[in-house]
Amino acid sequence: MSKIAFVNNKFIPFSKASIHIEDRGLQFADSVYEVIAVLNHNLIDLEFHLKRLRYSLKELNIKFIFNQKYFKNIFLNLLKKNKTSNGIIYLQITRGIQYREHKYEKNLTPTLIIYTQKKKFNLPGKNFSGVNTITYEDLRWKRRDIKTVNLLPNIIAANKAKKMKAYEAILIQNGKVTEGTSSNIWIIKKNSLITHPANSDILKGVTRTSLLKIIKKTSLNLVEKSFSYRQLLEADEVFLTSSGSLITPILKIDKKKINNGKIGNITLKLAEMYSKLCMNG
Ligand code: PDD
Repeated sequence: MSKIAFVNNKFIPFSKASIHIEDRGLQFADSVYEVIAVLNHNLIDLEFHLKRLRYSLKELNIKFIFNQKYFKNIFLNLLKKNKTSNGIIYLQITRGIQYREHKYEKNLTPTLIIYTQKKKFNLPGKNFSGVNTITYEDLRWKRRDIKTVNLLPNIIAANKAKKMKAYEAILIQNGKVTEGTSSNIWIIKKNSLITHPANSDILKGVTRTSLLKIIKKTSLNLVEKSFSYRQLLEADEVFLTSSGSLITPILKIDKKKINNGKIGNITLKLAEMYSKLCMNG
């Protein structure tokens, strides 16, 4: 059976799924998206994703009305049709189709695209692994709190990482770490867990939000404050979070080992707590 996608209210074969050449998502990246992890059939942090989607749509004045039930039904249907129990759901909403012109008309009909991808996640256990990273200048615009497909600076940095055989690029702005190209970055120093505050300099990650709740159950001291490149390299442990990578330890940054290149105990503990939450739904 071939793979199925959902485009504008219809389930259709993936190979036939397409959008109009004057879709503003294609021409101007006038579009928002979400990536939702699916583990063991569970839609991870669905509420947080839909809350952020609503926020992104509102900030860009894209009028797409939905409720959680509407999307949940489509997601579960697609996962079933595509026989996917572990993977991601990709959802994108564009402002719609219009004669090419920077200024948009009111009342356009947004385009909705949803599809699934199978994926093996990096979960604590015998195959749990850490990654190598580089740092790169943060070249992005000033509204990174909106999850738009305006991702070229991320793409440039991510491909620099690929060239250096690294998994992720950590973005640096005025000597401070903002986040990864598609992840949030955390450092541990003694008993403190430090991450960039959720302002317009970063995307407020859903995994980040979930982890903040978990941290409340530990004795760790949470500090939401930006930190420097030097603090990053001198941290006891470093890890990243995202819907695609969950909690993934960072073992190397710009060729310098963190925690002697080994997964740290606190990172492991947090990853275990988070994965337990995901697997049990
Ligand atoms: N990216 N920061 C950026 C710039 C991101 O693109 C992402 C996610 C995150 C982490 O957010 P979350 O925990 O909600 O996944 C932080 C997704 C996974 C992507 O673009 O594929």
